[in-house]
Amino acid sequence: MVILVTGGAGYIGSHTNKALNKAGYETVVLDNLCKGYENFAKWGEFVNCDFGSSDLREVFEKYDIDGVLHFAAFSSVAESVELPQKYFKNNYKNTLNLLKVMREFGVDKFILSSTAAVYGNPEKVPITEDQELKPINPYGHSKWITEKALEREAEKGNFNYVSLRYFNAAGCDFDCEIGELHDPETHLIPLVLDAAIGKRDSISIFGTDYNTPDGTCIRDYIHVNDLASAHIAAYEYLCDKNTSNIFNLGNGEGYSVREIIDMCKKVTGKDFKVEIADRREGDPDILIADASKIRNELGWQPKYDLECIVSSAWKWHQKINSI
Ligand code: UFG
Repeated sequence: MVILVTGGAGYIGSHTNKALNKAGYETVVLDNLCKGYENFAKWGEFVNCDFGSSDLREVFEKYDIDGVLHFAAFSSVAESVELPQKYFKNNYKNTLNLLKVMREFGVDKFILSSTAAVYGNPEKVPITEDQELKPINPYGHSKWITEKALEREAEKGNFNYVSLRYFNAAGCDFDCEIGELHDPETHLIPLVLDAAIGKRDSISIFGTDYNTPDGTCIRDYIHVNDLASAHIAAYEYLCDKNTSNIFNLGNGEGYSVREIIDMCKKVTGKDFKVEIADRREGDPDILIADASKIRNELGWQPKYDLECIVSSAWKWHQKINSI
């Protein structure tokens, strides 16, 4: 039997797909390459298909699918504010198509790439999974209603899911075979590394008047390989326990935008210009995970700290920019 990895040619999907194959699982990567890269999908079989299309049934007919890891989604907070329909259609409506086909073929295990953006501006940090969900941007809202659809699906029976609410995925594969490569890039660490490598003149800090000690937004950065190992633990949980669950996935430590810039300067040994810009719409002040639930229930532990995250990202950055 195989695991279907939607979005397995993208950033987090490809790292998890590689880890699954290394752990002995057989996978089929399904990706329409609108964001992903075919050479990121070199483990398992690759199928070029959109998970929202009617062609999806043929994939379920062809392969004996045991479960689905669903990474395929749009994930830019800023873009979602500009184009909400794009996010609700792909992230929510197209996921209903996937769930429908899974039901038809009796596939009963599902892992959702959810997000800390479902919490909005949390009442308390670190954030526990039981806090009220009040997303402040369309991206977070699209994942929130997808979680609700999964909850209802599981209530019907013969279907279990794990929703993993990622905090800020960062860092890259240590072998540099795959890495973070968005077009356009909007994420903080790769943009700061662009400034370090001289691809841009400066890095802008979006807002210095947030309710944080240095006035810049605080996020919980987690290495993409730690995310990958959490997916394997979650899949084993679904196989063993026959129940559904929701877990935060973060390191449990917060770093401000300024602290990230400082760490990038330290790791790269480069200096560059830092500018202050206006706030970016849709950004909460602080997102830090309380990740004790996943540690306790799945026995998962993150291995990599911020310095390791930035070092791995810098190695990849140097590789892709030297070509
Ligand atoms: N930032 C800057 N300058 C930049 C880019 C980003 O100051 O040039 C700031 C942002 O305003 C934010 C922080 O850096 O405060 C992190 O921004 P990212 O774009 O790297 O990440 P986000 O926190 O916006 O979003 C990421 C994922 C989302 C996920 C969220 C959960 O992209 O999918 O983490 O914490 F929902």
